[in-house]
Amino acid sequence: MYVCVCRAVTDRQIREAAMRGARTLRDLRRELGIARECGSCAACARDCLRAAHAAPTASASSRDSCVA
Ligand code: FES
Repeated sequence: MYVCVCRAVTDRQIREAAMRGARTLRDLRRELGIARECGSCAACARDCLRAAHAAPTASASSRDSCVA
């Protein structure tokens, strides 16, 4: 599922970034370009990142929490 439509970033890419060490929205912005355009994805991206750290192997949990 797309989290950031402007940059075509998916929840899967956010989970992968979390596994590589991304901890904050700033990390996602730097690595994936999240929230660099309209910014409407920021809250969802943050939720997806939190979910990825809470349950790194449970892909459904972050998918359910993000609505873009
Ligand atoms: S949806 Fe992410 S910057 Fe617009």
